[in-house]
Amino acid sequence: MNVLVIGNGGREHAILLSLKKSARVEKLYCMKGNAGTAQIAENVDVDYMNVEAVKAFALAHPEIDYYVVTPDDPLAIGLVDELEGLGKRCFGPRKNAAIIEASKAFSKKLMQKYNIPTAEAATFDNYGDALEYVRRKSAPIVLKADGLALGKGVLICEDIKQAEEGLKEIMLDKSFGNAGNVIVIEECMRGLKYNPGEEVSVLAFTDGKTIVPMITSCDHKRAGDNDKGLNTGGMGTFSPCPFWTADLEKEVLEKIMIPTMNAMNAEGRTFKGCLYFGLMRTDKGMKVVEYNSRFGDPETQVVLPMLKTDLLDIFEAVTDERLSDIKIEWESGACVCVVLASGGYPLAYAKGKEIKIGDVGDVTLIHAGTAVKDDKLVTNGGRVLDVVAKGKNIDEARAKAYKAVDSIDWDNIQFRKDIGIKYRQG
Ligand code: AMP
Ligand code: GLY
Repeated sequence: MNVLVIGNGGREHAILLSLKKSARVEKLYCMKGNAGTAQIAENVDVDYMNVEAVKAFALAHPEIDYYVVTPDDPLAIGLVDELEGLGKRCFGPRKNAAIIEASKAFSKKLMQKYNIPTAEAATFDNYGDALEYVRRKSAPIVLKADGLALGKGVLICEDIKQAEEGLKEIMLDKSFGNAGNVIVIEECMRGLKYNPGEEVSVLAFTDGKTIVPMITSCDHKRAGDNDKGLNTGGMGTFSPCPFWTADLEKEVLEKIMIPTMNAMNAEGRTFKGCLYFGLMRTDKGMKVVEYNSRFGDPETQVVLPMLKTDLLDIFEAVTDERLSDIKIEWESGACVCVVLASGGYPLAYAKGKEIKIGDVGDVTLIHAGTAVKDDKLVTNGGRVLDVVAKGKNIDEARAKAYKAVDSIDWDNIQFRKDIGIKYRQG
């Protein structure tokens, strides 16, 4: 089969690397891709947010058998619906299901309606009402822009004054654009040992009838060591999550995953694809922090390398709604991903810096924001390279990853030095 993956980042490169292992894959394509995806796939220079351009490409390329739509924004505008309308087979939710990520107000209402554990919250489309609500509440308190904001539309406010300022920024100054027309204001969840609580990302394959969690991972969303600094798309991940147990998995399946799948079916919004559960272990059990309608980035970079089953077989089983027929198997051991970013990320950063790579040893370099210019590999985004290492445990994988990081450099490189350390004492 010829398979096209839509997206540009490390997640897409990781998916392509996994698909490449399938004996059934003939040729891979990536729209638009980066310098890493170009090594294993044909990059297609079409803007995937331009629906008409994507459709024209698909019509002109009947040799492509299967489309994997990965990023949140093309899913939210219904690119899967459009491709299916042309008779193309796809992996990814339709528009009416992708809303589970595209609107935090929708997902909050869904969880409230179907009793899925999450932070207590209220939703406002009016600044005055939101301000009045915040003034009646106590800190810490969490503000979330309703729409897609590159993972940055969430403010954890330590006091009410900060919350008032945040409200103004999101709703009046529109610092996240139209994503902030509606706001969700929620309680800050407390953990068993940490505040806020311990977080785990669980990606799951679902065809709307069956839901199968993948191995767990933990992200590092803040830009700086010890979880200081601004929220980013994710500065590194490790798998598995150290506090995960069979009991937690049972609790999450029964109280969160299956109820979410059923709730989406009941709403007439059957979700088929990869559903991402951002979860928090709180003093009142596991709760949902957020849903994503897609693979996580950089979670995918530590989860898929551990997958033993053919990824294309799983994708097609989801499309054909026969996921229950497939046995999904994982390697034991651990995987760590350190994200190397451009200095300044998640705020302004330079592009076009030459990337120097020495002897990296036994790791996989996944490309996120890279390009080739004048025959040289250069930076081309905020998150640039993902250094991914496997080991028999997290310590071994972490040591391998950071040893490789030492031999990679560019002007004003930025990365966290503490990936893989947190939650190790349970
Ligand atoms: P989100 O984009 O919804 O995942 O939020 C970004 C980050 O903010 C999460 O990964 C959490 O670390 C934090 N966060 C979001 N909501 C809450 C909450 N209600 N309580 C505590 N922390 C939260
Ligand atoms: N790493 C978080 C996300 O993909 O949204």
